Amino acid sequence: MSTPSLLILPGDGIGPEVMAEVRKVIDWFGAKRDLAFDVSEDLVGGAAYDAHGVPLSDETMEKAQQVDAVLLGAVGGPQYDDLDFSVKPERGLLRLRKEMDLFSNLRPAQCFDALADFSSLKRDVVSGLDIMIVRELTSGVYFGEPRGIMTEGNERVGINTQRYTESEIARVARSAFELAKRRDNRVCSMEKANVMESGILWREVVQKVHDEEYPDVELSHMYADAGGMQLCRWPKQFDVIVTDNLFGDLLSDVAAMLTGSLGMLPSASLGAPMANGRPKALYEPVHGSAPDIAGQGKANPTACILSFAMALRYSFDLGAEADRLEAAVEQVLAQGVRTADLMQAEGDTPASTAEMGDAIIAALDASL
Ligand code: NAD
Ligand code: IPM
Ligand code: MN
Repeated sequence: MSTPSLLILPGDGIGPEVMAEVRKVIDWFGAKRDLAFDVSEDLVGGAAYDAHGVPLSDETMEKAQQVDAVLLGAVGGPQYDDLDFSVKPERGLLRLRKEMDLFSNLRPAQCFDALADFSSLKRDVVSGLDIMIVRELTSGVYFGEPRGIMTEGNERVGINTQRYTESEIARVARSAFELAKRRDNRVCSMEKANVMESGILWREVVQKVHDEEYPDVELSHMYADAGGMQLCRWPKQFDVIVTDNLFGDLLSDVAAMLTGSLGMLPSASLGAPMANGRPKALYEPVHGSAPDIAGQGKANPTACILSFAMALRYSFDLGAEADRLEAAVEQVLAQGVRTADLMQAEGDTPASTAEMGDAIIAALDASL
């Protein structure tokens, strides 16, 4: 097998800070496990805008299409707030997702035992939690036409369109059922079929894919608002949740707080298999560029490091090495090494971003 290729796009704010820790982990796997990656690095988001006047250059887009996997830090920041909508940092990320056709966004929410007291919910409610939100990522209201700010009479109107085709719903549903088969075999589909036609179609298509292709997986349907409530009430009732682009964005941020911090949540965005059988793939933390703590060495690198673990599992068929990395993270948390987002008492001294990364490397060393 040729050396697998990885394109790293650190992006903005804390993106480069957390990515520096991932680089240590990648180097560790090269040095200690003989797993070399052909790593290249490029710009995305505000950093790309500053250099090229666009949040993602055509050259970078082309590279992303060629590599085995892309790893992204985060994009955005207040200094870009007044830019024209078409060149905002977030447009770079949305272009990657759309042009790579990464329709299935896996956002696992796992509560590590050591962090069960950091959730805003009671320990009982979250301890042992292990759910997977599958968010549709390339369609829905994020991309539907018509869209824009138009003039109607003497006032302006902001328009976005929720739009889903049957095939778009079916393919993300399949991806959720496939995942469920390898987990607890249960899928809950969330939409608002009570008020949206796209929700009616969503429910019908998910049910049809289930009945025809996955009758042995347990399927339930829930309105997305009630789903948000149930995620806070008793999240352990869920195994896999499949939902649309916007509801998935919201529900995965809610799920983040079940795990203690947004700084903990990784994600994988997967498309159809390429010629080599690997899915097109982009891995990124669920969190953003965290402008409030950027440049201070405070960011938790765990979400980005766990995103690399997902790359090992889903792009490189290295499940055992992914397990090793996840176990190292769990061990470090159990030892009480924590970044500031996971500090409980006022007097405790938090670990810096680099110290957290170093502790994970030490735990990896100890795993050999
Ligand atoms: P955010 O996720 O950047 O931050 C929300 C809160 O969580 C902040 O208080 C932040 O300090 C904290 N936080 C986030 N990640 C953390 C980490 N790793 N360690 C410790 N604390 C962490 O969301 P926001 O403030 O709403 O958005 C800021 C910018 O990021 C915006 O421009 C937004 O569009 C962008 N954004 C980008 C992505 C992405 O690149 N995938 C995702 C979400 C938001
Ligand atoms: C996310 C973010 C993005 C989204 C933004 C930055 C485009 O919130 O990945 O969750 O809305 O999808
Ligand atoms: Mn989001």
